[in-house]
Amino acid sequence: MKILGIESSCDETAAAVVEDGETVLSSVVASQFSTHGKYGGVVPELASREHLRAIVPVVREALLQAGASFGQLDAVGATIGPGLVGSLLVGLTYAKAICFARKIPLIGINHIEGHIHAVVLEARRAGRPVEFPAVALVVSGGHTHLFEVQEGFHYRLLGKTRDDAAGEAFDKVAKLLGFGYPGGPVVDMLAPYGNPAVVKFTLARMKGNAIDFSFSGLKTAVLRWVQARPMSDEIAVRKELLRRVPRPVREQWLEVTPKATLDLLASFQHTVIEELLRRAALSADTVQARSLIVSGGVACNTGLRAAARSAPLPCPVHFPSPGLSTDNAAMIAAAACAKFQRGEVTPLSVAAQANLTLAS
Ligand code: KG4
Ligand code: ZN
Repeated sequence: MKILGIESSCDETAAAVVEDGETVLSSVVASQFSTHGKYGGVVPELASREHLRAIVPVVREALLQAGASFGQLDAVGATIGPGLVGSLLVGLTYAKAICFARKIPLIGINHIEGHIHAVVLEARRAGRPVEFPAVALVVSGGHTHLFEVQEGFHYRLLGKTRDDAAGEAFDKVAKLLGFGYPGGPVVDMLAPYGNPAVVKFTLARMKGNAIDFSFSGLKTAVLRWVQARPMSDEIAVRKELLRRVPRPVREQWLEVTPKATLDLLASFQHTVIEELLRRAALSADTVQARSLIVSGGVACNTGLRAAARSAPLPCPVHFPSPGLSTDNAAMIAAAACAKFQRGEVTPLSVAAQANLTLAS
C-alpha cells in the first residue's frame, strides 16, 4: 500500500511516499528558511505564497524519488490542522485535487498526530515497536503537549503549555540574543560550550495540573539577565554576522559569542530540558506507560536526547531520526496509513482547521 503524504502547516512544504506504513520511499522537504529568516519568525502571508510555489515540484519530486506515479497511490494523507490556515489550505487543496482526479481516498491528518507517527514508523521499522500505553511528548515551535497514547491510537491529553511552546522559547531567546531564526538549532550547537550550572533559573511550578508547562517565566528571566548586562554590542555583532552569512557555522558563532553568553545558552537549554523530562517522567509514571515517545522539532536537540538517555525514566524512550523530528510528510503518510487500515477516510469537503486539537 502506497500513501502520498502532504504537509504544509507552517513554513515547510513537504511530500513523501510511504509504503505499508513503515517504508519511507521518499521524503522531500522544501524549507522556507531563506524567506522568513530575515524577519526573525514566520510571516504567514509569505508562507502561503511559498507553499503555492513549492507544492507542485515538491510532490512531483517525492513521486519521482519513490519511483511511483499518481496511478499507483492508494490514498493521499494531508495535514488539515493545526497550523497557519493559509498554509494548510495549499497542501490540503492540492491533496483534494489529486484525490478527486484519481478517485482515491483523502485522509485528513492532525499535524500533532503526524509527529507521533514519525516515531511509530521508525520504531516499527527498527524492529523495536512502540508499546502501549505510551506517553508522547510533542515539542515543537507551536506545541508542547503530553498525551497518553492507547492501543489503536486513542489519545488523552495529559498536559500542555499554558503560554509559549518549548521551540518558541528557543526561538525567542535566540532572537533576543541576535542568533536569528530558527533559534533551536543554534542554541543546541552552542550550549555544549557553556556551563549549564552558571545561571540558575527557577523551574516553573504549576497551579492545578502539575503536568502543564510554562516557558514565559524562563523567557522573561533571560530577558532580565540580558537587560542587566551591557550586551548590546555583542548582539549587534551577531546581527551583522547574520546579514553577511545567512547560516553561520559553529566557529563563526563562537567567534562572536563570549563565554558568559554561552553559559546563558547552556543554562537556558538545561532548564528547558529539565522542565520537559520532569513532566514526561511524571506522565509515564501516572499512566504506567510502556514507552515514551518524544517528537517535534525540539526532539532534534542533542542535549535533550542525551539527558533522556541518562534520566531515570520508567520506560524505554523513542526519538525520531532528526529528519523526521522536524516537519516532514513521511509522518503524515504514516499516520494516514494507520487510519486507512481502520477505514477512516475524510470527505473532500473537509476544511483546514487552524486550531484543530488531538484530544482533550
Ligand atoms: O516540528 P517543527 O519543525 O515545526 C512545528 O511544528 O513547529 O519544529 C520547529 C521548532 C522551532 O521552534 C525550532 O527552533 C525547534 O523546533 N528546533 C529545535 C532544534 N531544531 C529545531 N529546538 C531545539 N534544538 C534543536 N536542535
Ligand atoms: Zn511540527
